[in-house]
Amino acid sequence: MSVKIFRDANELSHSAAQSFIEIANRAIAERGCFLVALSGGSTPLKLYERLASEAPALSAAEGLDWSRAHFFWGDERCVPVDDAGNTYGQTKKILFDKIGRTNIHRIVSELEPDSAADAYAHTLSGFADAPFEFPRFDLVLLGMGDDGHTASIFPNSPVDVSTPTLAVTAQYQDRPANRVTLTPLVFNQAREIWFLVTGTGKAETLRSVLKGKPDLEKYPAQRIQPVNGNLVWMLDEAAASLL
Ligand code: 6PG
Repeated sequence: MSVKIFRDANELSHSAAQSFIEIANRAIAERGCFLVALSGGSTPLKLYERLASEAPALSAAEGLDWSRAHFFWGDERCVPVDDAGNTYGQTKKILFDKIGRTNIHRIVSELEPDSAADAYAHTLSGFADAPFEFPRFDLVLLGMGDDGHTASIFPNSPVDVSTPTLAVTAQYQDRPANRVTLTPLVFNQAREIWFLVTGTGKAETLRSVLKGKPDLEKYPAQRIQPVNGNLVWMLDEAAASLL
């Protein structure tokens, strides 16, 4: 596990965009495609904007072939795509409408949560990396709430989950309550996992998650422990101020 501290969210997003492209190109060169699970929330939006603005130049200069990228999500809120709370809908406006042909495997948020979770598990099985029924993601982006949740894995939720997806209901800020999430079973098989965390509001929880005693029930972000991959915490100075 490594921790990278940046001056601010802009510097973090610029660096993350460069690394994102490097990982994508390496995956495409090695395996013919790039499988990435995006995060919701506000923190990664600057990264998506960077990728959209730099994509045309990058495609030419570094030969990034977006048609070989496959976009999934770590979680989604069960609201229509055109709802402001829908993560896919937000990312489509910022990124997918700008980078041309690519491959989208969204969580069908219009379905009932349990059905959406089952449908997403089926989608994942189409990219299964034996012996698993789901892909080994090349990159997973995650955020962390000020309560220590990540994706839609919330405090006091069951720690030992054996399914790749779950339908959950949770209250966090003014965000939609009904959600579908990937579980640590899937996340922890990824080759590379990034937490993007910024702002003073996260500093105390971040200290508990990174420096405190393990408490997987209280701090779901601690459940993210890649089996055979890299875990990188990308922080701004404000979020890292108590480390
Ligand atoms: C979501 C995310 C969630 C988010 C954290 C942090 O759908 O909301 O998956 O886990 O990453 O709540 O959100 P911010 O980046 O907005 O602080």
